[in-house]
Amino acid sequence: MEEREINLYKRRFKEFIKHYGPLYPVGAMEFIKQSFEASLDSVCDVDIVMQVKQAIGVKFDIPSFYEAHLQKIMENFDIGCNIVEIASGMYPALANLVATEQLKIGKGTITLYDPLLIPMEPEFPNMTIKRKHFSTKTNIKDYDLLISTMPCRITDAILETAAVNHKSFYIALCSCDHFRKPLGPEELGLYQEYEVDKAAILTHRYQNGELIVDQLSDDYEINTPIVYNKK
Ligand SMILES: C[S@@+](CC[C@H](N)C(=O)[O-])C[C@H]1O[C@@H](n2cnc3c(N)ncnc32)[C@H](O)[C@@H]1O
Repeated sequence: MEEREINLYKRRFKEFIKHYGPLYPVGAMEFIKQSFEASLDSVCDVDIVMQVKQAIGVKFDIPSFYEAHLQKIMENFDIGCNIVEIASGMYPALANLVATEQLKIGKGTITLYDPLLIPMEPEFPNMTIKRKHFSTKTNIKDYDLLISTMPCRITDAILETAAVNHKSFYIALCSCDHFRKPLGPEELGLYQEYEVDKAAILTHRYQNGELIVDQLSDDYEINTPIVYNKK
């Protein structure tokens, strides 16, 4: 990355911190500050750092992680519907992109669920922020499509809720192991297999369309399975 670009991003980062820094837990903000400059060249990163790079518009040779997922969502679903994003992250990087696209076409809303979202106001009129846990008890009847990137332990609940309620879903699985009893490193990957199998079983059992398993290209360090349904 050129010096001129780095300086531009540093200036934007300073502005971001001025505005949002006080809303973050101190430890998280410290981590972001320490990682920021060294992370400028990498498309994939720790989620909270990647979210900030998206917020300040860091560009790479390829679409950012969130832009790549937005593209896939738009290729496979009508984005002008009522979307719920679960596990949005501390800063809603993907949801902001979705809300922007919805405003362009003048249709659609997005509601966010994540207890760790920083206490910010939504920056788009079509966005609702719920700083809450999502669970299988969450009422999703008003939403058409459930989306999530790297939803950690809440993946099972998203899959179950989507299936039982016959909703469309798009989930990019977490790259970690979220079994209750952690596996050894040689068994990493089994967790993703388990979630893909679960998505297939639930989609079939509840006749919730056809399950598609996809992934981002090898250009992305985080290219875990993406599961979504086609009705
Ligand atoms: C690895 S982060 C992914 C964040 C974001 N989707 C991204 O790709 O940058 C996982 C997120 O799941 C959220 N989370 C965990 N349990 C949750 C629940 N029950 N309901 C909603 N969000 C939850 C955490 O707070 C965290 O922000």
